[in-house]
Amino acid sequence: MQMTKTPQQRQQRRRADAAGAHEVDLLVEARTLELSALSSHLQSLAEKEKSELARTLHDELGGLLTAAKMDLSWLQTRIDKPEYQERLAQLGSVLDEAMSLKRRVVEELRPSLLDHFGLSTALRAYVDSACAKAGVAADIRLPEDGKSVPKDIAIAVFRIVQEGLNNIMRHADAKHVTLVLTTDGDEYAFTLQDDGRGFDPNDTTRNSWPHGIMGMQHRVRALGGRFSLESAPGKGTTLRVAVPMAGSLSDSGSP
Ligand SMILES: Nc1ncnc2c1ncn2[C@@H]1O[C@H](COP(=O)(O)OP(=O)(O)O)[C@@H](O)[C@H]1O
Ligand SMILES: [Mg+2]
Repeated sequence: MQMTKTPQQRQQRRRADAAGAHEVDLLVEARTLELSALSSHLQSLAEKEKSELARTLHDELGGLLTAAKMDLSWLQTRIDKPEYQERLAQLGSVLDEAMSLKRRVVEELRPSLLDHFGLSTALRAYVDSACAKAGVAADIRLPEDGKSVPKDIAIAVFRIVQEGLNNIMRHADAKHVTLVLTTDGDEYAFTLQDDGRGFDPNDTTRNSWPHGIMGMQHRVRALGGRFSLESAPGKGTTLRVAVPMAGSLSDSGSP
């Protein structure tokens, strides 16, 4: 049996609903903040671990491979038998391959140019080499590396460009890539554009978004920046990111 509510009861009900909805909103907001903080923490932990692994591989594995190469040349000067010489030469090329693999992995884990020469130099080298390898023309406009960029901003910008460029190489089939980075002292901003096949960012027929674009967005949000991705089938893709210098967590946030 349904009882008819008085206007007063209806008003009370509306107030209770509004209070409930407000509480849910607050809870969702609090949980979102917690997740976001946790994700930032995990991201900076991952950067730290990658950096440590890069150092170990560089120093220890690098040391072992160099020692092996030195022993190899010692043997090469003392063994005359041609069939042995042939085997030693093969061993030499395996060691060279191992060294270049080590170099690639170390560079992937922690771009050394970033630490030694700064963001612009590291980005130019990375984008140039990836585009050259893929036969894509690159137009890169970056400010000179002068004033040092806070480390957490530098690594975040580098990783975002890295993911954006990986996406171009994997999905876009582009002929030209343009990267423009500007800074006015208060803000770092960049645009990464390709003239490839593009896609519909609002396509809801996908089961779920993969983590690449979400990861980029998260990095930008963690630094209090702005992120936008424009794309349409046949129209290429443009990624725009701006990060405030003051949004930086600390100068020594990441190693
Ligand atoms: N530059 C681009 N050109 C064309 N399609 C792209 C580009 N960037 C992203 N996409 C599309 O968006 C999807 C999601 O990208 P992302 O989140 O990085 O995941 P993943 O690269 O692992 O697929 C890609 O699978 C691709 O369909
Ligand atoms: Mg991706």
